[in-house]
Amino acid sequence: MPAKDDYIAAIDIGTTKVCTFIGAVKKNNILEIRGYGVSECSGIKKGMVVDINKATKSILNSVEMAEKSSKIFVDSAYIGITGKHISFINNWNEINLSSANKIVKKADVDKLISIANKINISSQHSIIHTLIRQFSVDDEKGIMDPIGLSADKLGVEILAVYGSAALIRNVVNSIKGANIQIEDIILEALASSEAVLTPEEKESGVILLDIGGGTTDVAIYQNKKMVFTYCLPVGGDLITNDISIGLNIPLIKAEEIKKKFANVDYNFYETLNRMNIGDVKIDRNKTTLNIRLYSIVNSRVKELLNLVKEKIESYGYIYSAPCGVVITGGTSQLKGIIGLANSIFNMPVRMGVPIEVEGPSKAVANPIFSTAIGLLKYAFQIENFMDLSQFGEKKQRGTGIFYRFRDFISKILKSEG
Ligand SMILES: Nc1ncnc2c1ncn2[C@@H]1O[C@H](COP(=O)(O)OP(=O)(O)OP(=O)(O)O)[C@@H](O)[C@H]1O
Ligand SMILES: [Mg+2]
Repeated sequence: MPAKDDYIAAIDIGTTKVCTFIGAVKKNNILEIRGYGVSECSGIKKGMVVDINKATKSILNSVEMAEKSSKIFVDSAYIGITGKHISFINNWNEINLSSANKIVKKADVDKLISIANKINISSQHSIIHTLIRQFSVDDEKGIMDPIGLSADKLGVEILAVYGSAALIRNVVNSIKGANIQIEDIILEALASSEAVLTPEEKESGVILLDIGGGTTDVAIYQNKKMVFTYCLPVGGDLITNDISIGLNIPLIKAEEIKKKFANVDYNFYETLNRMNIGDVKIDRNKTTLNIRLYSIVNSRVKELLNLVKEKIESYGYIYSAPCGVVITGGTSQLKGIIGLANSIFNMPVRMGVPIEVEGPSKAVANPIFSTAIGLLKYAFQIENFMDLSQFGEKKQRGTGIFYRFRDFISKILKSEG
C-alpha cells in the first residue's frame, strides 16, 4: 500500500453535487480511489459561485465525508474549473538558435517557453493552462521533443486556456473558506477527458462531451493533445425544468420521471402513465403523456447537441475526430442519448465511464464522477512532472510533453492568501 503522502485529493464543484475524491497511483499505473464524499451542491450554478457561504459548506461536507471514508486528512486539493467564461487561444512563437553547433538544448526550450509564456490577455482574465501542442525546428512542424535536433530556428505552438479572473477568484475563495489549500486548478473538460478517453482515441482524434446538470463541457483531441475546448452553459437540469413546465409537475417529480421514463428514442416512449406521476393531478391519457414527455426531452437534447455541433463546426474540427464522440457526465445516462447523438453527429458515439481506476464500484463505474477521477489522474501527471528535473524525461513516462506555467493561477492564489 502506498504511504499516506502518496494520496492526493481532488474536488469537483458541479451544479448538482460537490464531490471530493482521494486516491493514489499504484505501481501498475492504475489509480486507486481510497475514499470519496458527495454532497448536494448549493451556491454553485453552471460552474460559477453564486453564494460563497453555501458553496463552502457543500465543499466542507464532501471533504469531511471523503476523510471519514478514507481515514486520510485532506489539507490540500486539486480543483476543477468550468463555465462559459472559459476560452482559449492558440499561439506560435519562434527563436533563432544562438549556439555555435545549432543543436537544440534544454536552455533553448526554456527560453522559448518563457517567451511563449508572455500571453497577451486582459487583466480581467487569468490563464488556467498553457499546453504545448507541438514544436517546430526550422520549417518542420509536428515535433514533440526538439532537444538534440539540429536547427537554426526553434518554434512552439501553445494552447492557452483562460477564464474570468473574478469568477476563478470566487471558486478559490469558497475552497479557502473550507480551509483547503489549492494545489492547482484544472479545466474540467481536460479532467473528464483524462478519465474516460483511451490514448488511441486521443491520438486519432475524438470529441469529448461531459453533459452534467448545468453545463456541457467539450474537449477535442488530436495527436494526443487537446486542441479545442468549450463550455455550453446548458445541461440535464434544463430537461428536468422543461418536463416540470411541460407536464405541470414539481421539479422533484420531473427529475424522477426523467431518470426513470424519459427516452429520446421514439420507439421506447410507452412507459410513463398517470400511476407513475402519483398523486400529482394530470389530465392526460397514457399515450398523450408519453408523446408529450418524448417530445419535450427529445427536442431539448437535440437542441443541446446541435448547439455543440455548430460550435465545433464553426472552428472547423467536426471532420477531425475519426474516433467520434464520447459522452460522459450524469446526462450521458439519459436513455437513447447515444443513438440520438450518433444521428446528429453522424459518427460513432459511446458512453464514457472512467477507465484504469480501482475502488468502490459506486465511485468508479459512474459517469457523474468522471471529472473528479480525471482531476486525480491529471494531478498525478503534474506531480510526476514536477519531480522531473530533465525536460526530455517527461516523454519517457508516456505522458507526452506538456509544459505548464503555474505563475498565472498562483498569482491569484497568492493574492487571496
Ligand atoms: N439516469 C439518468 N438519466 C437522465 N439523466 C440523469 C440520470 N442520472 C443523472 N442524470 C442527470 O445528470 C445531471 C447531473 O450530472 P453531473 O453529476 O455530471 O452534473 P454536475 O457535475 O453536478 O453539473 P455540471 O458539471 O453541469 O456543473 C442531472 O441533470 C441529472 O438529472
Ligand atoms: Mg460536472
